[in-house]
Amino acid sequence: MITTKFQNPQPKIQDLQSLLAASPYQAYVYSYPHKTAYRPLNPAVSLADLWSKQNKKSLFLYIHIPFCEMRCGFCNLFTTVTHNEDFVSQYIRTVQRQALKVKAELGETSFARFALGGGTPTQLPIHHLETILNIAEETMGANLQHIPASVEMSPETATGDKLKLLRDRGVTRVSIGVQSFIESEVLATQRRQTTAQVEAALTRMREAGFPTINIDLIYGLPGQTVNSWLQSIESALRFDPEEIYLYPLYVRPLTGLGCTDKEWDDVRTACYRTGRSLLLSQGYSQVSMRMFSRNTLSSPSPIYCCQADGMLGLGCGARSYTDTLHYANDYAVGAKEIRDILQAYIQTPSEAFNYINYGFQLDAEDRRRRYILLSLLSDEGLNEQDYKQQFSSDVMVDFPELSQLFALKLAIAHQQVLQLTATGIEKSDVIGAWLFSDRVNQLMQAYELK
Ligand SMILES: C[S@@+](CC[C@H](N)C(=O)[O-])C[C@H]1O[C@@H](n2cnc3c(N)ncnc32)[C@H](O)[C@@H]1O
Ligand code: SF4
Repeated sequence: MITTKFQNPQPKIQDLQSLLAASPYQAYVYSYPHKTAYRPLNPAVSLADLWSKQNKKSLFLYIHIPFCEMRCGFCNLFTTVTHNEDFVSQYIRTVQRQALKVKAELGETSFARFALGGGTPTQLPIHHLETILNIAEETMGANLQHIPASVEMSPETATGDKLKLLRDRGVTRVSIGVQSFIESEVLATQRRQTTAQVEAALTRMREAGFPTINIDLIYGLPGQTVNSWLQSIESALRFDPEEIYLYPLYVRPLTGLGCTDKEWDDVRTACYRTGRSLLLSQGYSQVSMRMFSRNTLSSPSPIYCCQADGMLGLGCGARSYTDTLHYANDYAVGAKEIRDILQAYIQTPSEAFNYINYGFQLDAEDRRRRYILLSLLSDEGLNEQDYKQQFSSDVMVDFPELSQLFALKLAIAHQQVLQLTATGIEKSDVIGAWLFSDRVNQLMQAYELK
């Protein structure tokens, strides 16, 4: 592939060492750029034009369900608590309208992966859950029996009938938010959940026969100690999950919790280290700072490469990724603002789904930064040859500041693959934020959270 010669960006003013001196828990870096760098697009971009230039043979289909049975104190995801059945039905009908338009605009597409996320997708009544799966299969053409398909759920909503439906329809991975097996810790975050509910849900998930079960746990919760944290992980291990995510609790603006201090950083670091050691001793491998897996699945599935393949999102909170443009709906964390955005979504006339109004245009620098970030922060590592093939330039020439990672013993290079060391993985979020471009940093800083 021929690319224009990349103009090396200005050397970064802030060096990594000074960032490492601050709290390692500033922000969760899981995609690049963050939604707070998105802005209104003027003029709007035609969906058909954008995707006509994209390889559509191996896409990731993502459908977002922004409903939950409660609003946990720590959560800043795009989701709302509603008991208005009519509103939920209108949302599902709007996803269907959007899917029909998007499919017509994109034409021939092939999906390599599917995920249903939220919020809490299993909060939907079962007939709506079925409609969503029909949208994925019949409208969009994703063959759920043949591709990896994942669904997020909470303990209370992971009911036997919904699990059976999901398994029958080809779902291979179910991911459950547990956070902690110690009731007082969960309740302190305004999350109503009993440990008996969690254990019953995990038993049902096992019985339903999913090849992969993922359990989300959080460390740094109010009242949590290293010992109680290890108890939670041991409780999770009794269900032999194929994957476990260990999330440090992040206090984010406009969410219910709030306190930052050095002592808390130390507790989180101690929890991370002991949790990681325990999982490694139990045969799990570390995929990234948060993700641990003992997945031994060997059946070949269509390959999706998050570096190169696109993501097509449906639903109000979903993002979509192409090589040059990332886009989504407007974003908010506050309850009223989320409801306003959802209201506007369900009132969107079908023809308006042909246009994209809000997003981020990736230039040559941010495409490269995204590539580096996604590969370096996972066990895959940053392969210098692959980078060169992708961008026709040398990563160490484009970004000489990467050598700071070696000097600070945060990464090593083995056969031209840059891999984070154990200390580097622990500092993933600092390294991730350090790799942001000045343009992205400026946009994120100027964003007014609502
Ligand atoms: C979509 S939810 C999982 C499914 C379901 N909604 C539930 O909570 O049971 C995504 C996960 O993100 C994690 N999470 C959300 N906000 C967080 C925060 N502020 N700090 C740490 N982890 C967080 C939680 O572990 C949560 O399970
Ligand atoms: S953690 Fe899960 S259940 Fe709680 S508010 Fe966030 S998405 Fe909803």
